[in-house]
Amino acid sequence: MSKVKKAEGKLGVMVVGLGAVTTTFMTGVLMARKGLAKPVGAMTQYDKVRVGKGADKKYLKYDEIVSMATLDDIVFGAWDVYPENAYESAINCEVLKEKDINPVKDELEKIVPMKAAFDKNFAKRLEGDNVKECKDRWDMTEQLREDIRNFKKENGCERIVVLWAASTEVYVPVNEKVHYTLADLEAAMKADDKENIAPSMCYAYAALAEGAPFIMGAPNTTVDIPAMWEMAEKTKMPIAGKDFKTGQTLVKSGFAPIIGTRCLGLAGWFSTNILGNRDGLVLDEPANFRTKEVSKLSTLESILVPEEQPDLYTNYYHKVRINYYPPRNDNKEGWDNIDIFGWMGYPMQIKIDFLCRDSILAAPLCLDLVLLSDLAARAGRWGTQRFLSFFLKSPMHDYTKNEVPVNHLFQQYAMLKNAIREMGGYEADQELD
Ligand SMILES: NC(=O)c1ccc[n+]([C@@H]2O[C@H](COP(=O)([O-])OP(=O)(O)OC[C@H]3O[C@@H](n4cnc5c(N)ncnc54)[C@H](O)[C@@H]3O)[C@@H](O)[C@H]2O)c1
Repeated sequence: MSKVKKAEGKLGVMVVGLGAVTTTFMTGVLMARKGLAKPVGAMTQYDKVRVGKGADKKYLKYDEIVSMATLDDIVFGAWDVYPENAYESAINCEVLKEKDINPVKDELEKIVPMKAAFDKNFAKRLEGDNVKECKDRWDMTEQLREDIRNFKKENGCERIVVLWAASTEVYVPVNEKVHYTLADLEAAMKADDKENIAPSMCYAYAALAEGAPFIMGAPNTTVDIPAMWEMAEKTKMPIAGKDFKTGQTLVKSGFAPIIGTRCLGLAGWFSTNILGNRDGLVLDEPANFRTKEVSKLSTLESILVPEEQPDLYTNYYHKVRINYYPPRNDNKEGWDNIDIFGWMGYPMQIKIDFLCRDSILAAPLCLDLVLLSDLAARAGRWGTQRFLSFFLKSPMHDYTKNEVPVNHLFQQYAMLKNAIREMGGYEADQELD
């Protein structure tokens, strides 16, 4: 029997950033609710997990195994640096055609962003002025907490989930003096330590303090620090991160296992992208790209491990580039050149050219991460949700204990299925489906 609390009442989904990804997510949910679009790519809406074994086995959708919030339960809220409402922003982002936005225009227009907790030093290329006046980082956090409480009350929500899908901030290296304990983190907020406390940390702290799970969709280190793990433990809330696994890294984490499973060698893997949306513009700034680079580079090393197979994976060259190229807007093109070697070391090449749509790939991840984090909270799970690694480029793990993240797509999928089974009161297992 499942011990998960039932998903009753409205679920407030408060997103940080009302840009390409989140307006595509919102529009899709609202259109699907009206039966005018299908939520393609969302595991929570389509995937079936086997429960039971042998003659008793059945394949069930997630909501047939555990109580899940439905699309109808969702109420959207947002914060952004720019004042445009979700309709205006969806039109400006040019991800979706107007004919796919207009049927839900009224609902989108009602989603007006609250003032952002923002500091230009963390995203220099943004010029918006829909920004909170804050005395210090502690005050920033307090104001966000008030926003969450007001939103919950005004919209009659039972539960809230906060999702960061705002711009990538500049890289904030983990600082043991500030980021290792909750007491130090709070002291730094009160001392207005602007260098070590990114605005995203204020959102995360505020969410957890208000009893809401927090998801980091960008590569920011926000909740990937021991102080936030302590906060999640104290508040008994789930956290997940970091960086949506959408295009190139999805391919990488699904394709690298082919090389590893077949015991082929790897000499190098060069990944490059062109994209022209605002995300691309922010990532054109070297300090912001650094955050993304760290996240993107981590994928291969835990799948093709040099120490485990020195003949095959020693010293392979792994490079990732992102180039801002306005004409493509949200339609990213990702190239991968993979230099492999086979029998007696003879070289071969694989080329992958993925003409993808960034926000079309990210929107279903937003839905899955939000619904599954809400599920985790109702199941009494707190702290880092490893079963959500499937959706993330750089899954959180306890690096203070030298824990290694799982990046292999199919191992991540096994973790996801087992978590759903366990929360549904079934046994986790390793059977082949
Ligand atoms: N689309 C993908 O495939 C993908 C994959 C992985 C990660 N991401 C990440 O998702 C994020 C969103 O991507 P996007 O294409 O929607 O970008 P976008 O630039 O269209 O939207 C981001 C929005 O966040 C706002 N913002 C920035 N700082 C803020 C703050 N402190 N508070 C509130 N709002 C703030 C910006 O004004 C902007 O409107 C980026 O960090 C991106 O790196 C996207």
